[in-house]
Amino acid sequence: MRQEVAIRELRAGDVEAIVAIAVAAWEPIYAHRRQVMGDALFEKLHSDWREGKAAEVRSACARAAGADVCVAEDAGRVAGFITFTSDDATQVGEIGNNAVHPDFQGRGIGTAMYRHVFAKLKERGMRYVKVTTGGDPAHAPARRAYEKAGFSIQLPSVTYYREL
Ligand SMILES: CC(C)(COP(=O)(O)OP(=O)(O)OC[C@H]1O[C@@H](n2cnc3c(N)ncnc32)[C@H](O)[C@@H]1OP(=O)(O)O)[C@@H](O)C(=O)NCCC(=O)NCCS
Repeated sequence: MRQEVAIRELRAGDVEAIVAIAVAAWEPIYAHRRQVMGDALFEKLHSDWREGKAAEVRSACARAAGADVCVAEDAGRVAGFITFTSDDATQVGEIGNNAVHPDFQGRGIGTAMYRHVFAKLKERGMRYVKVTTGGDPAHAPARRAYEKAGFSIQLPSVTYYREL
């Protein structure tokens, strides 16, 4: 029988594994963005996206952004991670960067991580949870995963660019 995925707190030794997961998971998203924006605009804004994403994840791991981080372990291998924050004033928690390694996607790990974080946020007195994602095709898996997890109140937005 297949071993259950375990969701647990971050350990110091996990950081580089989750940075690698983030970069692998965001590759198709940035590839799509390059296609939409064209090389010139993409290079202006996102040429160093891997370093930027790695820095965001390391910063959350250092709690520099006040974020908590949990990891998903599948048969002893770190397969995913999720960052989240809580806000006592509004009682609205927020999920930040989260990803499952492409080799492990579509097996329910994302769903398990969201459930785990919902329980943690409830324990901290949060009444709602927010997450922001893209409306583009590359974020379709994220939108589906969030809707499956019960996110049902939506405020869509669109970002435009034009050449001058
Ligand atoms: C979003 C993400 C974490 C979901 O993780 P996951 O472990 O694959 O999610 P689950 O297996 O729990 O799947 C949840 C739902 O999403 C669907 N889903 C997963 N991958 C999908 C894909 N490529 N296309 C469409 N739906 C997909 C699943 O089928 C499931 O829905 P269903 O039960 O109705 O079929 C993962 O796709 C990922 O890392 N994406 C890249 C990074 C990213 O977008 N992060 C969020 C940024 S806001």
